[in-house]
Amino acid sequence: MQQKILILDFGSQVTLLIARRIREAHVYCEVHPADVDDAWLRAYASDGQLRGIVLSGSHASVAAEDTLSIPDAVFTLGVPVLGICYGMQCMAHQLGGRVECGHQPEFGPADVRVLAPSPLFDGLADYKTASGSAMLHVWMSHGDRVEALPPGFRAVASTERCPIAAMADEDRRWYAVQFHPEVTHTRLGVEMLRRFVLDICGAQADWIVGNRVDSLVAAMRERVGSDQVILGLSGGVDSSVAAALLHRAIGQQLTCIFVDHGLLRQGESEEVMEVFAHQLHATVLRVDASEQFLAKLAGVSDPEAKRKIIGAEFIAVFRAQAERLLACPQPGSRTGERGDAWLAQGTIYPDVIESGSGKKAAVIKSHHNVGGLPEQLGLRLLEPLRDLFKDEVRELGLALGLPPAMVYRHPFPGPGLAVRILGEVRRDYADLLRRADAIFIEELRRTIDPDTGKSWYDLTSQAFTVFLPVKSVGVMGDGRTYEYVVALRAVQTSDFMTADWAELPYALLKTVSSRIINEVRGINRVTYDISSKPPATIEWE
Ligand code: XMP
Repeated sequence: MQQKILILDFGSQVTLLIARRIREAHVYCEVHPADVDDAWLRAYASDGQLRGIVLSGSHASVAAEDTLSIPDAVFTLGVPVLGICYGMQCMAHQLGGRVECGHQPEFGPADVRVLAPSPLFDGLADYKTASGSAMLHVWMSHGDRVEALPPGFRAVASTERCPIAAMADEDRRWYAVQFHPEVTHTRLGVEMLRRFVLDICGAQADWIVGNRVDSLVAAMRERVGSDQVILGLSGGVDSSVAAALLHRAIGQQLTCIFVDHGLLRQGESEEVMEVFAHQLHATVLRVDASEQFLAKLAGVSDPEAKRKIIGAEFIAVFRAQAERLLACPQPGSRTGERGDAWLAQGTIYPDVIESGSGKKAAVIKSHHNVGGLPEQLGLRLLEPLRDLFKDEVRELGLALGLPPAMVYRHPFPGPGLAVRILGEVRRDYADLLRRADAIFIEELRRTIDPDTGKSWYDLTSQAFTVFLPVKSVGVMGDGRTYEYVVALRAVQTSDFMTADWAELPYALLKTVSSRIINEVRGINRVTYDISSKPPATIEWE
């Protein structure tokens, strides 16, 4: 049985970060929408594994009429509770304190003074005042604030503008902070969350995904039995790890369908086949549909129209292949009746949380998440990674023996090079782009930053080349050239919602530019994109 921490999500933008921080402390936690009722909570705790509850923030106000409240059972289950921001205000409001609403909002960095001993903060300080008070750099984002403590609580921290910035009832092990420990701007926030789950809740730090391969494999084996499973393999991290896990669990009952739409990067198709078909001996059906995709894209230059065409075509190709497979089941699998087959997807935990809370997904989803297909094909949906964060998926991938270069690769959009060739997609453009991009990536991997010892590929979150269908004049030898332009794009980001352009070393840019211009006939000019997101986006289309 797995011990667990429950995070009740009141709708904050950063609830996911609370879960990530707790998982990073190797404690298993789950996020559930806060509108659960007491019966749900009691059933959730009935296995005896619940160790504590965290109440997230929210943009709501406790004074609003339609606002969510904390289910009573949170306070009767006898487990420690930590309220964050709105979670704290809600605790104060419901437990007999007073919250002042519409107070002057406080957004951004603040310095918190620790007022009294508390296992959350003891021994922690970013600096000390002349009088010896421990001070913590934190991140605030609130309009309302707690004005009067509920019975049994005392104030344990304050800021100049928020006299009760943290409160605690040590006897009942109820804690609350007005600031956000889950965001990196709260420098010691990770440590506070770690203390809550390990010291206060007494949870064991036993959630190590790399050690759980056997139990994950066993769970998949039991779930699938002797059924047939189909998986859309894109070569991205999630579908690759899902495929490797399922292959380990059910071997030849798994068939991967790998659709090559002709807009993949150089060597990508071969690499996927090498790892899955040749090294892992998985059954991979590679479908070369490049002619079909390029024909449909001919003459189309609008980015969204290109995306729609590729999405629809992908579904059509995948569906045709899946139907063919189901009609003639693989050796070793059962009858091949529709009820006996599954469609596996590389859905990961952030996707589950986003859809569960009815929130808009933060990152545009890949069309390889073939939504709607399971019902159309009469297949059952299998999501082997749905409990895992991206970092955990990578850890699992390594434990399953996937190459680090595959596990740590940058994300690649579903429509592939189609959104990196501005305007109309043509095969000759794609060929030029592939060669230029391969040079850029090779040099990023090769160039090591002396300060960190890491390659510039690992120091960037996403890097690629964009093809600009404009010609410019150049000179080569004695001759004038009139050829195409490419732009290099490299960004650093933690969430892909905002991103900074990477300050790549000039020497690296120089090598890349010189190699592309010399080695790729047809390109005579290389530029570097120095736009941040926002207002630019990461991709050019
Ligand atoms: P933008 O360009 O919106 O990109 O700043 C943010 C992240 O999303 C990826 N992206 C896509 N991924 N299908 C995908 O699977 C798409 O249509 C798509 N468009 C953008 C982009 O590569 C970046 O990681």
